[in-house]
Amino acid sequence: MKRPIEVFSVGIDFIQVVFRGRGDHLLRVGEQTIPVSGPLAVATFTDLSPATDYSISFGGRRSATARTLARPAGELLARVATVSDTHIGETGFLHWPRLWSQPNRTRFDDAHPVWALRAAADEIRAWSPDAVAVKGDVSHRDSAAEFRLAISILQTIGAPLLAAQGNHDGGNHRGCDAVAVAAELGMQFDQGVVRHDVRGAAVLMVESTVAGRSSGSIASHMTSARAAIDPEIPTLVFMHHQLMRWPFATYFPVGVPKPEADEFLRQIGSVSKRILVSSGHSHRNRSRRFEGIPVTEVGSTKDFPGVWAGYEVYEGGVVQSLRRIADPRVLTWTESTRKSMARAWGFWSPGRLRDRCFTHPW
Ligand SMILES: [Fe+2]
Ligand SMILES: [Fe+2]
Repeated sequence: MKRPIEVFSVGIDFIQVVFRGRGDHLLRVGEQTIPVSGPLAVATFTDLSPATDYSISFGGRRSATARTLARPAGELLARVATVSDTHIGETGFLHWPRLWSQPNRTRFDDAHPVWALRAAADEIRAWSPDAVAVKGDVSHRDSAAEFRLAISILQTIGAPLLAAQGNHDGGNHRGCDAVAVAAELGMQFDQGVVRHDVRGAAVLMVESTVAGRSSGSIASHMTSARAAIDPEIPTLVFMHHQLMRWPFATYFPVGVPKPEADEFLRQIGSVSKRILVSSGHSHRNRSRRFEGIPVTEVGSTKDFPGVWAGYEVYEGGVVQSLRRIADPRVLTWTESTRKSMARAWGFWSPGRLRDRCFTHPW
């Protein structure tokens, strides 16, 4: 039987759970209760203590347990949110079955990527980050109209936008001069390697998109990435394409080939160990360590499970916590995409809780 409570996300002070069940219920953590209604809802318990075990009860019975993340040592230096693969312009999703979010398949301005990005922007604004990193595939067909809508939504967050192009923004999908169009609209797509100082931390945006290609490359950016990292300042390194773990493609889409991915990680790791590297492109959630450096992939806003990420950078470490976008219309849509790829998407994309949420001490 399907468990009614899934612990989707944890942070140093919150637990986010997904409820799947019938009827109206009260979820309880400690003294806090949150009403939920079936068949699907998200509840977030806040103001919790770090590194503490909590039980989550439903219908008066303990239904799940969760442990909040440890708070790294030292001062909080910066809070950075990320969104990936917003794909504004798309109206369908994947294959077997291909799913459509509205009957008029050409109305991209009222399709699921737009609902998802608007809801993510509202949640991120409420989280009040110091900056938002936009990790590519902002648009779907690389058109000016798509960028206009996407950037207007991202600007509602009210935080500086740091952006890298994805392959849908001028790689194998080419419709306009994405860099020029975005600049006119007030968002800079960083070229090469650009370091942004964000309060007490740094964010390095690395261009991995190559004109004409779906896969990525960062081979030409090793030296500039090394030079841009200050070992005294914790640094978040963001790019569109995932750094591939195996010497051959075991799934699609293909990211940055392993030899140059490993070399890049070795090079930046020789400068500093106070680094986290994260990408998009794969529309899935994963995390691993490469010689002590956390390397993560964070999924799309618009397909299951439908997430954005929050990074809290401390003197003594970094916290990554994904959030499932909780808006009911978005949630219903992202849940429906589980059945794509002959029901494999629902197993492939979400990753484990420890892929999505962790504390990494430097
Ligand atoms: Fe994408
Ligand atoms: Fe991509």
